[in-house]
Amino acid sequence: MGDIYDNVMELAKRRGFVWPSSECYGAVAGFIDYGPLGAMLKRKIENIWRDFYIIREGYYEIEAPTVGVESIYVASGHVKGFADKMFQCPSCREYHRADHIAEEHGTTNADTLSPKALAEIINGLPCPSCGEIIENADVFYFNLMFQTTIGPGSQRTGYLRPETAQGIFTDFNRLSRFYREKLPFGAVQIGKSYRNEISPRQGMIRLREFTQAEAEIFIHPEHKDHPDFSRYADYTIPLWGQTQQMQDIKPITVSMREAVDSGLVANEYVAYYIALTHEFLTQVGVNGDKLRFRQHLPTECAHYALDCWDAEIFSERFGWVEAVGIADRTDYDLKAHATGSGDSFTVFIPYDTVHHENRRTIVPDMGALGPHYRGKAKAVADALKESAPGPDGATVTVDGDELFIPPDLYKIREETVEVRGEEVMPHVVEPSYGIDRIIYCTLEHAYEEEDVEGEVRKVLHLNPAVAPVQAAVFPLMNRDGLDTIAQALSASIQKHGILAQYDDNGAIGRRYRRQDEIGTPYTITVDYDSREDDTVTLRERDSMQQVRLPISLVPETLSRLIEGTLPFSEAGSKI
Ligand code: GAP
Repeated sequence: MGDIYDNVMELAKRRGFVWPSSECYGAVAGFIDYGPLGAMLKRKIENIWRDFYIIREGYYEIEAPTVGVESIYVASGHVKGFADKMFQCPSCREYHRADHIAEEHGTTNADTLSPKALAEIINGLPCPSCGEIIENADVFYFNLMFQTTIGPGSQRTGYLRPETAQGIFTDFNRLSRFYREKLPFGAVQIGKSYRNEISPRQGMIRLREFTQAEAEIFIHPEHKDHPDFSRYADYTIPLWGQTQQMQDIKPITVSMREAVDSGLVANEYVAYYIALTHEFLTQVGVNGDKLRFRQHLPTECAHYALDCWDAEIFSERFGWVEAVGIADRTDYDLKAHATGSGDSFTVFIPYDTVHHENRRTIVPDMGALGPHYRGKAKAVADALKESAPGPDGATVTVDGDELFIPPDLYKIREETVEVRGEEVMPHVVEPSYGIDRIIYCTLEHAYEEEDVEGEVRKVLHLNPAVAPVQAAVFPLMNRDGLDTIAQALSASIQKHGILAQYDDNGAIGRRYRRQDEIGTPYTITVDYDSREDDTVTLRERDSMQQVRLPISLVPETLSRLIEGTLPFSEAGSKI
């Protein structure tokens, strides 16, 4: 078997999973089309994700525009800081990411280095495009957002969203009302995000338009215990914490309970979504032996984040690929949008019992302030309300001037007030999934070539729940009524919501190969016995075993096989 990436992509292109986008005009790097089978596979993976997050967790899905006004991305920090470090090769004029070239030549964590430090490393290395030695190249920042203008002749700047998350943050106050202002609550979004990657050379791994599935879970900053933590408390997986990475030792296998209790993972919320992510990824077909969870090193973790973990999937071509990021982002995003928009971005949390507080209010005497301060009286009054007067008076600053206000120009009211609760700015826990990376890794892990009687059998061992075509029906011959029985059977399978392909073209062995290649888990053959005894042969893709069962039982049996509630050995009588 040659390079697995080349083999997987050859199959993916030939059979209609993934195509270069706008190929007839010369495809542009970083954009892909999902063909008929790829689009189906993608939808199924996304729908399993929805089962986890919407149906099970109860976080509803929203759909915000992919174009956002500039103020969103100024507030979020993307306009200023969402940039990669690049250089232009002085010989061939191609642009490249400086940290990637440095890492390819042995520098670790090159993305944390300054442009100056990177320039020192890359000068003297060969350019990956032309092979010439890079000399006197500067490294500079390049913002990854695609900029646009909104409306004709408009000066209003917009950006294609670089992540789906901001659409959820900007809807925070509406979401809070939707959930009746009760923490915790969450919202999810699946959709396209855009990053003008500098030189995407990694197929489906680094795209300029890609699909993210993100959940933003808003929690009380002081209550980070997940209400359903018991579901995953005993879930045990390898975690590669900062300490193990820095000591160069292997990930440690611990339960989520141990991970939180030992301080390896910051809190139950983060541990819960690490475990859920592991369950989701293995369910859609990622090989559990090629999956690890790696904590961000202090140099990688955003300064505001409390804890960050990446789900990394091993690809034979690309090494460990970050497919999901799980982070406790504290109140960074909500605070940023509160400052940017002037809205409050808080939730009113009632206390269990009413509190009583002594409150001191300063009440300016406008009748007395007016003659003293004339046009400035209102500003002085506002400043007084915020001041802390001493026994002789209050000092305030108005328009840059410091003023001393004697006590006869205001009153101090002391009162005991009832306080029923407090305004709280929630913290955000964010699991963020890259769907295209998950799809590529699923295809790579599912791909196998084997020698069957001197012929290469290419198989995609896709999980039946995500396989684009779930069953195929073959009449042994395209005549003698076998075709009519097979067509009727296809129709009754389809009525059960199962996508079944009818195929009467070519030798039966070839038809099996065609279905194996696209990952169809079950095939049914109608033969001459079917006319006599109303039974058919059902074949399982992975074991290639066959059983015989009555035609009338096929749709129900397939449903149970696909949902995993029936072992194949019990699907019929062994042949
Ligand atoms: N809201 C957080 C966020 O966007 P991120 O780590 O930048 O975090 C999340 O992105 C996930 O999106 C990544 O783990 C990765 O799977 C996917 N992703 C990011 N950039 C990508 C790209 N250029 N092409 C394909 N997938 C990408």
